[in-house]
Amino acid sequence: MEDFVEKARRYLFATPGRQPLMLVRGQGCRVWDSTGREYLDFVSGLATTNLGHAHPAVTAAIQEQAAKMLHTSCLYQIEPQIELARLLVENSFADKVFFCNSGAEANETALKLARKYAKERGQGGFEVISCLGSFHGRTLATLSATGQEKFHAGFHPLVPGFRQVPFNDLPAMARAISPQTSAVLVEPIQAEGGVNLPGPDYLPGLRRLCDERGVLLILDEVQTGMGRTGELFAYPGFGVEPHVMTLAKALGNGVPIGACLAVDAAAAVMTPSTHASTFGGNHLATRAGVAVIQTLLSSDALANCRRVGAYLRERLQELARRFALIKEIRGKGLLLGMELDREGLKVVDFCREHGVLINCTTGKVLRFLPPLIVTEKEVDQLLPVLEQGLRSL
Ligand SMILES: Cc1ncc(COP(=O)(O)O)c(C=O)c1O
Repeated sequence: MEDFVEKARRYLFATPGRQPLMLVRGQGCRVWDSTGREYLDFVSGLATTNLGHAHPAVTAAIQEQAAKMLHTSCLYQIEPQIELARLLVENSFADKVFFCNSGAEANETALKLARKYAKERGQGGFEVISCLGSFHGRTLATLSATGQEKFHAGFHPLVPGFRQVPFNDLPAMARAISPQTSAVLVEPIQAEGGVNLPGPDYLPGLRRLCDERGVLLILDEVQTGMGRTGELFAYPGFGVEPHVMTLAKALGNGVPIGACLAVDAAAAVMTPSTHASTFGGNHLATRAGVAVIQTLLSSDALANCRRVGAYLRERLQELARRFALIKEIRGKGLLLGMELDREGLKVVDFCREHGVLINCTTGKVLRFLPPLIVTEKEVDQLLPVLEQGLRSL
């Protein structure tokens, strides 16, 4: 272990911070490290391997595609890209899709679209209002949209035209939208920001506001999408439809891919040559995406997510009743957070040392993101380790 930690220090940028663990193999909800030690995975590569590691349908699809063709660039038609777009369109509010390689790029696409949409309607506004506590990516524009100052440090001046208002506060958003506004960008659930849920009226209210003021509602479903909350996408569960939605993470179950989906009126402004990506939507990535959606729609992964999500939540609530240091359990489906009254990183380390991978976000919120195929039995294996970890605080 020392060896790879030392080599990583020597050859890699120090960002992001890495734990002293090298995972080399995975199967379902289990992963193995370079010494052969097994772990239960409640992180899923940060909400990415939603179908579990080495899912047979995804593996077969990318093996077959790799043997046929990986890439031809965005100059030509790509069969699995068209098929993935069809599947996304037929299973969402959207009319059109643009593919890229990550969540940040998907949001960049949406931000460019919003500026052009406003211009073409003669509005001239280019501002985007997002929320405090949000996370939208690490490129300069998406960082500027991100409502957490700790990510901005060292990178000022940020891209102009971004403002943040408190999450779940409709009057604040109503005050912030002005003739300068082109779009409102929000996550249905703030995931990196601590698993923060909006009230039932917030997202439908945002849509009404956006319609009244003639601005676009962009939902960032990079983390909540692809089944994480128990539905293919989170937005229907909140009673809202966006004009634009971004996806990434679990869309390829680990193969890098991002997507920006939009209604026709918005997508129409992205005319030829206005935006492109060399790798975006290539054969390999979109073939993986097709296998992911087909599997999510044809297997019981979504129902399992709802059922085991409710079970995990209940078991976490039981812990909360016994541990005063737990302030709240919140989330939806298998995007669950446990807010502590103190720093939680030591629990992450304890769990890892005892064979379970969990995550901590914003310092105090333990986050549970197992593959959607996780079982009650696997939840039962997490709990005693987590309990001991909490005792060690
Ligand atoms: C809601 C949300 N948007 C955007 C991103 C950025 O995605 P990526 O890391 O693929 O650029 C993330 C990543 O955590 C995210 O959670």
